[in-house]
This record gives sequence, structure tokens and C-alpha cells, in this order.
Amino acid sequence: MKLIIVATPEEGAVNAAEIVIKQIKAKPASVLGLPTGGTPIGLYAQLAKAVKEKKVDLSQIKTFNLDEYCGLTKENFQSYYTFMNIHLYAPCGLRPDQTHIPSGTASDTEAEVRAYETAIVTAGGLDLQVLGIGENGHIGFNEPGTEPKSRTRVVTLTQNTREANARFFSSIHEVPIHALTMGIQNILEAKVILMLAFGANKADILFDALKGPISINNPASFLQNHPDVIVIADHAAAAQLLRH
Ligand code: PGA
Repeated sequence: MKLIIVATPEEGAVNAAEIVIKQIKAKPASVLGLPTGGTPIGLYAQLAKAVKEKKVDLSQIKTFNLDEYCGLTKENFQSYYTFMNIHLYAPCGLRPDQTHIPSGTASDTEAEVRAYETAIVTAGGLDLQVLGIGENGHIGFNEPGTEPKSRTRVVTLTQNTREANARFFSSIHEVPIHALTMGIQNILEAKVILMLAFGANKADILFDALKGPISINNPASFLQNHPDVIVIADHAAAAQLLRH
């Protein structure tokens, strides 16, 4: 595992964008696994800037998002589809055929998750999976207690996750209770994993994920089993790692 400690989230975003752009330059038709949340917003802004400055060509990439809330249509302002459209798809000019997010409103969720996994395999598998880390160690919406062999499925969000994400809604009561998420096994199948962690609220869980036991209590700890992981953390998120 390679750990890159940066001073600020802004610097982290620049570093992360360099890694993503290097991947796309090496393989223009790269298949990227992507997260939502506050963490990747700076990375997406850097990618949009690079596209605008013609420093990278994203016209052949394919993207697969980790997760989506159940019950929210694509058009819903809180959906992860809308989030991605605002932060990445529209600013980078990605075509609809390039981007994939599981549908939170599929009537047959079993068929939806099977189709999602098939689409990833058909695309050739994930070359690079970008991740944030939840305050409770979740990656995607794989909450503590998730088995490492888990695959794409419907999950119930923990109270902690709903509270953390309530900042994107007008109240916690609006945060959906269920979501569709890729499993830990899907994440570990990516050739390279790039995890970003910014802020003091991630310091304890990041330390535990990288230096603690590999355990279902901290899903991000399963990354210790992957041969090619890069972690970018700002000073605040790396505080515990720097202390030890
Ligand atoms: P955040 O969430 O980026 O909004 O902090 C991280 C996560 O839940 O994976």
C-alpha cells in the first residue's frame, strides 16, 4: 500500500487527478469505478479543469459508480446520478453511454444488480477504483459487518451513515434507508484502488483501516488484502498515522 500525505484536501485533489489522468493516458478506454460524497468533489473539479485545458481526453473512458440511494429517481436532486452529473458528467462532457450508476428505482433490484455486474465485466473490469472512506469505515455503502465476498446488492444504511449524509438533505428523515452498492469483492477486483481521506473526522478510522486488524468491523481494512492500493490523506485525516 502506498500512502501519500498532503497538506490540504486541495493538494490531495491535485494528486488524485494526476493519478487518474496518468491511468487514462496509459489506457484511453479505462474503466473507472467512482464514488460520491464530499471527498471526491475536488478531484472531479480537477478532471473538469484538465478536460477544459485539453490536458486529457475522456471520450473513451467508462465509469461505474459505487452506489445509489434506493427510491430516488435520476432526476431527484439528492440522487447520486444528479451529483455525478453536476460534478463530473456535465463539466467533462461525458456521454450517457459512458457512465453507469445502479438505478435506485428499478422494480426488479435483483435483475438490476445482475445487469450492473454484467456491464462491468463486459467493459473489461475496473482498471481503477476511486474510494472515499466513511466515518465508520464503509467503502461504497458496505457498512461495518459486511463480508469481504459481498457483491452488488441492496443494503440498509446505518444511522451513522444517514446522519453523516443528512448534510446533503434538508433533514435526516429524507435520507433513504436503503441503497444499492457494489460489494467489497467488486471493489477488490479493481486492478488499482485509490482511496482518498480528508478531515479530522476520518483520522481514527483511517488509522484502523490501514494499521488495524483486517475485520468486518472496518470494511476499509479489507483493502490491506489488495496488491495495488494508493491512499491519499490530508494532514488532518493522517493525524493518527503520523503519531504512530
Ligand atoms: P464523504 O463520505 O466523502 O462525504 O466524507 C465518504 C464516504 O461515505 O464514503
